[in-house]
Amino acid sequence: MQETLKQLEIEAIAKVEAASSLKEVNDIRVQYLGKKGPITEVLRGMGKLSAEERPKMGALANEVREQIASAIAEKNEQLEAEEVKKKLASQTIDVTLPASPIKIGARHPLTIVVEDIEDLFIGMGYTVEEGPEVETDYYNFEALNLPKEHPARDMQDSFYITEDTLMRTQTSPVQARTLEKYKGQGPVKIICPGKVYRRDSDDATHSHQFMQIEGLVVDHNISMSDLKGTLETVARKMFGEDREIRLRPSFFPFTEPSVEVDVSCFKCGGKGCSVCKGTGWIEILGAGMVHPNVLRMSGFDPETYQGFAFGMGVERIAMLKYGIDDIRHFYTNDIRFTKQFKQD
Ligand code: DAH
Repeated sequence: MQETLKQLEIEAIAKVEAASSLKEVNDIRVQYLGKKGPITEVLRGMGKLSAEERPKMGALANEVREQIASAIAEKNEQLEAEEVKKKLASQTIDVTLPASPIKIGARHPLTIVVEDIEDLFIGMGYTVEEGPEVETDYYNFEALNLPKEHPARDMQDSFYITEDTLMRTQTSPVQARTLEKYKGQGPVKIICPGKVYRRDSDDATHSHQFMQIEGLVVDHNISMSDLKGTLETVARKMFGEDREIRLRPSFFPFTEPSVEVDVSCFKCGGKGCSVCKGTGWIEILGAGMVHPNVLRMSGFDPETYQGFAFGMGVERIAMLKYGIDDIRHFYTNDIRFTKQFKQD
């Protein structure tokens, strides 16, 4: 019996040592140390032994069992360590490899211009308002002193949705909406950037959808000189400190008097070049003193309040600033175009 046990020990340990996987080791454990294994068998046969021999044999059997168990534990540890090592080797990261570059997008040039102009006006105490792009006939026209059948409505071909709603043709309706919100109580100092829509055929200088920035100031004692001073400051910030502006008489139904505003050419300084078409001046916006009817219709008393307003086309400003020759570039989303406006 002693011999058998010793033999089992040698045999089991040899098998454990030769094993090459955790599963194999576990099989050996079950085979030798399990309930149906040979050692259990030997122990079961101990009843036949003499009282003297029994404890000796018991001790030996336990020792054999322990030897095998410790060989198994050692082998398991070794195999586990090897497995970890293999895993690490297969998953190594070469931290010295150059990383693939992260592509960073650029702000759209229209966004850049709008945000620059917003910053400029916020710095002068203005707030930024918004209004709906689907607008009622009332706010888009009537509240701006353009009653139904007024011939000046033809200046802006409109996309009507129903008889009374349309895609706004200008950001000016936000003037009327804002005045209503202030309930006859000035001062009002706002700008409103936004998309507008007109039934135009698209070409290099026309788009059925474009952007405007509207401005409105209503307070006591506001005069044309406040308008001129404000626009001069803005033109110089946008196009260079030595720019001049000039006002030309014009017509808009919601302002009286109305003006068109030119800035001296930033390319040639006024001598005449291709950018200013030889005139030395570039038209940048429409403006004027808010018509008393507009103030009255939206709840302001024109006897005590005056105001000025202006509206500019964002694409036009961006085209002038960046030398862009076709308005359609803004909307075709060619990445070669937009990535030129990357800023830090
Ligand atoms: N809404 C005008 C347009 O789209 C632009 C404009 C002109 C706005 C004069 C104004 C203004 O506020 O005072 O043609």
